[in-house]
Amino acid sequence: MTTLTTRRFLQTAGLMAAGLILAACGKSEPPPAPTATAPAPAATPAPPPPAPPKVYVVGTDAAYAPFESQNEKGEIVGFNIDVMNAIAKKAGMEVKFVNTPWEGIFNTLAQGDRDLLISSITITEERKQTMDFSAPYFDAAQLIAVKQNSKVAKFDDLKKLKVGVQTGTTGDEVVSKLQGKTSTNIKRFESTPLALKELEAGGVDAVVADNGVVINYVANNAGGKFKTVSDTAFAPEQYGIAVKKGNTELLAKLNKGLADIKADGTYDQIYTKYFGKPAGAGASAPAPAASK
Ligand code: ARG
Repeated sequence: MTTLTTRRFLQTAGLMAAGLILAACGKSEPPPAPTATAPAPAATPAPPPPAPPKVYVVGTDAAYAPFESQNEKGEIVGFNIDVMNAIAKKAGMEVKFVNTPWEGIFNTLAQGDRDLLISSITITEERKQTMDFSAPYFDAAQLIAVKQNSKVAKFDDLKKLKVGVQTGTTGDEVVSKLQGKTSTNIKRFESTPLALKELEAGGVDAVVADNGVVINYVANNAGGKFKTVSDTAFAPEQYGIAVKKGNTELLAKLNKGLADIKADGTYDQIYTKYFGKPAGAGASAPAPAASK
């Protein structure tokens, strides 16, 4: 075929196709004319199709072993993850964990990017102003990490020393109180492991963070030559699951699920898996039993 005849062929084919479409359209059924005998519309409309199940987006700062961290495969794992999954199972909720940096984690809740947060979050009066918490599910306290040759024996000894903390944590709060918020001796890090690495490198003299995380880190980094120093001056802390202020419906689900896993032994099982002893046997000083 020459170019010309090809074009003509295509034109003809195009016209024929258009004609077919027109013919098809013309054949479409006209709406049935209403007649007196037409059946009355059903009294109850058909039920709407079931909505897809809601997936609750859970924010967690997964750099906090053994509570929440990422394994070699990049999966988010840990005590809090197991607890949350167990609660979700009881409550019939579908959950999806999203690694969320600690700085700004509370904003994601306020903005609705996360439905809830489980991230070793200490329930504090200040935080309660801007978010709601589940019933407490874990006891914690601050703990000091220093090098083995350090002379630090109590919290007050940190008054004039360089101290590493994770920004905006309760560890940051207690050290800010001791040294003054604007003290240049407070070194703030984006994660607790980063603060502990700086201790190993000699950039800070001590780190103050949640006991469970400090104990776990020291146990798994023998080369760091760390030791821990506890002090009864540290107030007892309790972890809670945070939801957006006023989300009473979700809070009720979480609290019910939490009560259920405590009642049927699931919580104790998870606790023992990570801390090597039953919950309640001195829960404020967990043993470093969890393997990474
Ligand atoms: N419990 C402390 C607080 O609430 C520290 C929590 C930090 N959690 C984390 N996943 N980095 O301030």
